[in-house]
Amino acid sequence: MQVRKAVITAAGLGTRFLPITKSQPKEMLPLVNKPLIQYAVEEIIGSGIREIFIVIAPGKGAIRDYFCRSSNLEEILLKKGETELAGEIRELSNLPGICCVMQRRQLGLGHAILTAREVIGDEPFAVVLPDDIVDSDVFTLKRMIEAFKEYRTCIIAVERIDRQDTIKYGVIRSERVSDHLYRVLDLVEKPEPERAPSNLGIVGRYILTPQIFAALEATPPGKNREIQLTDALKLLLQKQPIYACELEGVRYDAGTPLGWMKAAVAFALKDGEIGPELKRYLKKLL
Ligand code: G1P
Repeated sequence: MQVRKAVITAAGLGTRFLPITKSQPKEMLPLVNKPLIQYAVEEIIGSGIREIFIVIAPGKGAIRDYFCRSSNLEEILLKKGETELAGEIRELSNLPGICCVMQRRQLGLGHAILTAREVIGDEPFAVVLPDDIVDSDVFTLKRMIEAFKEYRTCIIAVERIDRQDTIKYGVIRSERVSDHLYRVLDLVEKPEPERAPSNLGIVGRYILTPQIFAALEATPPGKNREIQLTDALKLLLQKQPIYACELEGVRYDAGTPLGWMKAAVAFALKDGEIGPELKRYLKKLL
């Protein structure tokens, strides 16, 4: 079966970014002039998926608005002769099947995915966490879909992390299958470094089989009293194999101020318009 649908989870409170996230969803923070969530959408579409469900929460309407048509703005831009920009703005609302799903209670990543159960149905699907920005030649999700075609089971993305950072991520125990591919033997959500089974940390890209929903339902609240996707995957591992694809490229944890700032600078430096001047400025500053 093909991976036709994707879920973007954008319902978190963004506590690491407070106070700005009090009224501004962290997924709307910009890298140059595009919000984080747009990079997620571009990766999904670029990986061949056409149906996207964004899980949002009350107070995150800015995400929904971003993908809605703004005829007024388009008209103003056209009148000003800004044809190209007007076209770009229209493109956003022309993106294939984007739909928002409301998570009414913030009970964690696992619960957010469970919220999308009805719209996903009985088929494999992708999950993208928009605050994990990956700068790579080939989209990570695309590589994972290739792996799914071969293994027909859950595929998660991982990368080597610093030992002291295991408390920030899900961590796997695994055996190597081939270059950049591992078979998962165990998963732990945010372990202390001394208890971590390895330094392979989970990155926010998943291909999940629909059996994950039953596993999520059977998963009790875990770390931070939230329903953790990692715990549900551990449960599912008893029934089906899970593989991990090692990331190629650079990953930014843009869900933290420092990670976001690093991504913002890196993307701005690559931008044809502002990059060269920013480089000169940074050199002077340092
Ligand atoms: C979530 C997952 C974690 C994963 C991380 C990737 O954590 O629970 O397993 O490693 O995303 O970014 P969060 O960042 O939502 O706390």
